[in-house]
Amino acid sequence: MQNYSVDVNMQPLSILDLLAMKQANEKITCLTAYDASFSRLIDQAGIDVMLVGDSLGMVIQGHSTTIPVTIDEMVYHTQAVVKARKRAFIIADLPFLSYPTIDTALKNAAKLMQSAEAQMVKLEGAHTEIIKNLVDFAVPVCAHLGLLPQSINQLGQYKVQGKDVKEAERITEEAIKVEQAGASLLVLECVPADLASAISKQLTIPVIGIGAGVSCDGQVLVLYDMLGITIGTRPRFSKDFMQVAADIPSAIEQFHQQVKQKQFPSAEHCY
Ligand code: KIV
Repeated sequence: MQNYSVDVNMQPLSILDLLAMKQANEKITCLTAYDASFSRLIDQAGIDVMLVGDSLGMVIQGHSTTIPVTIDEMVYHTQAVVKARKRAFIIADLPFLSYPTIDTALKNAAKLMQSAEAQMVKLEGAHTEIIKNLVDFAVPVCAHLGLLPQSINQLGQYKVQGKDVKEAERITEEAIKVEQAGASLLVLECVPADLASAISKQLTIPVIGIGAGVSCDGQVLVLYDMLGITIGTRPRFSKDFMQVAADIPSAIEQFHQQVKQKQFPSAEHCY
């Protein structure tokens, strides 16, 4: 098995490398990043993917949701992250209401890919027509299903999704549809571990879980949660890696190793 985590080739990883990891049963590691300093540390620790998440609205800007984040702010933070990265694959979020039509989705994806050099954009929900059109114009897409933080005002609260059979079937159907629409990756947030495991096995594309159990093809955490500096209560699915590390680089390396060795997440972090 090729070990991507010690690959010293300084070309950034590509979408094909991530697919090869799934096929080789090597877990994909992903952390959110919002600036150049952390981008450098995360990259040096060998993390495979950095997600410039719209969670920056909460952890950087101090908002209570991700809703206020703008596309220009996403471009600004993505530019900073890309500047300091050598190896990690970079995904940038399309923020709230930046992809309501095919035209706006294309225009905003162009900003993330041309001005900021993201390698892939992520969008929430099973918007298959939007995904198809982005993919037709060579924009790689990561879909995001399960708990959708941009829908918080419809949901009313952040909670586990897909607990009953009907909801589980809906999420499974959506996962199949986004893959068929051309998505190259799927983030599954806050769903029961059994459901995430079944979806990960059913799909060809890599499934990156957050609060979705150890059987996903990879794991993502919000950087500030895993560094133990969550504002308020840390989500149950996350873990403070600073408790087992002497400094920030070691905490990031611990996350990387524990995901690769399938030690994180453990039962206490799952639903
Ligand atoms: O914005 C973000 O950080 C995310 C992760 C929670 C997956 O979308």
